[in-house]
Amino acid sequence: MASRKLTFNIFRHNPHDPGSKPHLQEYHLEETPRMTLFTALTRIQEEMDPSLNFDFVCRSAICGSCGMLVNGRPRLACRTRTAELPKKIALLPLPFFRLVADLSVDTGSWFREMGERVHSWVHTDRPFDSQTQEERMPNEKAQAIYELDRCIECGCCMAACAAAQMNGNYLGPAGLLRVARFLADPRDHRPDGEVYEVVATEDGVFGCVGFLACEDYCPKGLPFSTQLAYLRRKTALKGWRSAHKDGQASIASES
Ligand code: SF4
Ligand code: FES
Repeated sequence: MASRKLTFNIFRHNPHDPGSKPHLQEYHLEETPRMTLFTALTRIQEEMDPSLNFDFVCRSAICGSCGMLVNGRPRLACRTRTAELPKKIALLPLPFFRLVADLSVDTGSWFREMGERVHSWVHTDRPFDSQTQEERMPNEKAQAIYELDRCIECGCCMAACAAAQMNGNYLGPAGLLRVARFLADPRDHRPDGEVYEVVATEDGVFGCVGFLACEDYCPKGLPFSTQLAYLRRKTALKGWRSAHKDGQASIASES
């Protein structure tokens, strides 16, 4: 079968260059078997335009650095085969994040700041003892934590999220999943009131407008809708609300 001639329209702009204006630049490439967007962009950069900026590290859906809008949808470019796409392919940087240049955006700063906002670490008063053995936990518990810990911080959910485009402070699917991950962890002993402060706001669970595009575009299939429902339900629980007032009550008082 004759190979297809692909037309790429790629967003170009360098915000650090005062002379640069946002525009789409056209490139043409012959499709090769099993070609991914990573292969295509690398060939364009090596054979036609070394000034083109884009990010890749692992090429196997692990590092989360290659998220971009592919014909309007957030996807990992390293896992997207050109054969899945029409001959005309438009590539734009993910919205919501700071543009570095062309297809490269700064997801790292947002994820770092979000991690600080939600205190993305295990809170415990137990002093560290290097001599104690690793703590055991039931398999089901470990699996439940692992399921929520699979986020690769690609930013596709934030780019797909209508609420995040309207409210830059919204914790978004990635931030709320992070909160749920620590709530699932029996080693974490942060006071309920602290979690309530973070999630029971317009920047938290009440900021979601319910389109749930995050779930459609998360390349790891993370269960956002169930976790959002779980967090919303928790904010309504009496124990949590009183915990918010006195900063003391325990999750055991929920029922
Ligand atoms: Fe990417 Fe999914 Fe994590 Fe969002 S939740 S940053 S889409 S892996
Ligand atoms: Fe690492 Fe695509 S290059 S996720």
